[in-house]
Amino acid sequence: MKTLLTETVIQDGVRRIAQQIAHDFRGKRLTMMGVMTGSVVFLADLMRQLDFPLRVGVVWASSYRASTTRGELVVNTPMMPSVTGDHVLLVDDIFDTGHTLDRLLKEIRKCGPLSVHSAVLLRKQGRREVSLDPDYVAFEIPDEFVVGYGLDYQGHYRHLPYLAALEPDDMAKWPS
Ligand code: IMP
Ligand code: MG
Repeated sequence: MKTLLTETVIQDGVRRIAQQIAHDFRGKRLTMMGVMTGSVVFLADLMRQLDFPLRVGVVWASSYRASTTRGELVVNTPMMPSVTGDHVLLVDDIFDTGHTLDRLLKEIRKCGPLSVHSAVLLRKQGRREVSLDPDYVAFEIPDEFVVGYGLDYQGHYRHLPYLAALEPDDMAKWPS
């Protein structure tokens, strides 16, 4: 595996976008909504950088996929807290094609929030297939399959505190 972002670099990036988010949402009714499971580490670090009242919830989205390729997106919103009258910040690990965020933002809009914005740790270059762009992006990364800091390959590597690009040998270790 090749390290793309060290733990220190990630923490600096998280602090940087936390400052932007604090600037934009301090004093407003904010609910941060993490997309499970990939955002779990980012969500935990980001929320602890925000020193004003806010609520935190999760929504679950997953695409049935063999390995690193995409499949049909399944969304589970019943776990979502009520967001009527709140500003919602959807938090995800990575913006790849953008279909996941696009779909989730539409689902959240149906629940009557005051506004909906999105924050991602990573945006993969040259992959976007939707008209939407995330409002807060900590890092731009090349088009490689990455793991760590919440991101997985077949459920593995989420616990790594850094971000790494997978190489063919690493993928071969965990056949689907
Ligand atoms: P999108 O719908 O194509 O934007 O894909 C977003 C979702 O795919 C993310 O929430 C991740 O769960 C997953 N994903 C996309 N690229 C990667 C990657 O490089 N490593 C791990 N998961 C990824
Ligand atoms: Mg995800």
